[in-house]
Amino acid sequence: AYQGRAALVVRPATTEEVAAVVRLCHDAGVALVPQGGNTGLCGGSIPDSSGRQVVLSLTRMKRIREIDLANETITVEAGVILQQLQEAASQAGRLFPLSLGAEGSCTVGGNLATNAGGTAVLRYGNMRELTLGLEVVLPDGRVWHGLRGLRKDNTGYDLKHLFIGSEGTLGIITAAVLKLFPGPHSTGTAWVALPTPQAAVDLIGHVRSLCADRLTGFEMMSRQSLEFVLDHVAGCSDPLQGPHPWYALIELRDTVPDAPLDLLLESGLGHAFETGWVIDAVIASNQTQAAALWALREGISEAQNHEGPSLKHDISVPVSQIPAFIERTDSALQQAFPGVRIVSYGHMGDGNLHYNISKPLGHADAPFKAQEQAIMQVIYQMTSAFNGSISAEHGLGQAKPDAAAHFKDPLEIELMRAIKHTLDPTGLMNPGKVFATGLE
Ligand code: MLT
Ligand code: ZN
Repeated sequence: AYQGRAALVVRPATTEEVAAVVRLCHDAGVALVPQGGNTGLCGGSIPDSSGRQVVLSLTRMKRIREIDLANETITVEAGVILQQLQEAASQAGRLFPLSLGAEGSCTVGGNLATNAGGTAVLRYGNMRELTLGLEVVLPDGRVWHGLRGLRKDNTGYDLKHLFIGSEGTLGIITAAVLKLFPGPHSTGTAWVALPTPQAAVDLIGHVRSLCADRLTGFEMMSRQSLEFVLDHVAGCSDPLQGPHPWYALIELRDTVPDAPLDLLLESGLGHAFETGWVIDAVIASNQTQAAALWALREGISEAQNHEGPSLKHDISVPVSQIPAFIERTDSALQQAFPGVRIVSYGHMGDGNLHYNISKPLGHADAPFKAQEQAIMQVIYQMTSAFNGSISAEHGLGQAKPDAAAHFKDPLEIELMRAIKHTLDPTGLMNPGKVFATGLE
């Protein structure tokens, strides 16, 4: 979706090398675009088309610096691939819980720079909540050594939170101290059919009161989303008989081996059948079946690409408001753009919907793409009416700064700009990202 032209790509292997490159660019007035695994969906790691920006790739900074089991922390460099971090934690008998579709190639630096979310946020939080300390090369080349593994530190402003989610606009994150957790020894996975999104809200509340922290993920998807997967992703089949309007994928985890999670799921779902929240359900009886259910959820993004351009949105509203959001936005869109196919799915437990749109069946791409801005306006206006966020997990990158400038409180934008100006007065760090062009 995004293309750029870099003056050159530099691939430093140490913090000192990153700092040296940043100092050179700072002195020469050359803009830098930090890049990790290059899997972002909003173009945050892609240079502009001028051919004058330097891409600074962190992929050679891939050392695991330290594991402190007693402190339950791991210190890693920015270029470590998320899956390698998960494996290192697992080899140490621990869990690093961040999990998302791109985990085989996205890097820790990008996860931090975008405050990545994924499918276990409900239980463990997003990247921000998983981070205790950071090492950052500032825009003038100085290094902030903030690699502290402290769970308590009230010595003033917590600066790491400025850099997490800043998408490379305030400095370059080179390493982080991250939290570890006990590894799960039992997993329970259920796929359920639901009559309405409201039933999903009721079911989350019920499962959570029954299972508390064991509830790790609650993903929801519409029939349209599942149909795209069944049509386009090889080896997938519908686990239930007959079409149903909505589905949820529920995952429980426990640190106790052989914990009776299936029994918990059965008892929770039994009540849900009686109240009418659930129409039908299947509980995975082994890891292979659980993986097949997850493949249905994780295949949606890829499957939608086979249906022409996907207009991707990544909104959040309070969980309680999701049913009303879907009802009102669906109806506004169908009225204004009859026949568009709405692919609603996402991290229901976090109130985060990937409310994506595909063209009407049989229509050409071009006229549909021409409506992109108008469709987006309807969705973002509705998100705003529900006091939601137009970007819940993918960030702003170069895709959404204008929308953020429009829909965010002007005071928040003003404060953000003041921070940007303080840390990066010459505007050389990832220009054109996060802030609308010309405003940084
Ligand atoms: C997902 O949750 O599947 C992704 O964040 C959405 C996407 O790839 O569009
Ligand atoms: Zn997502």
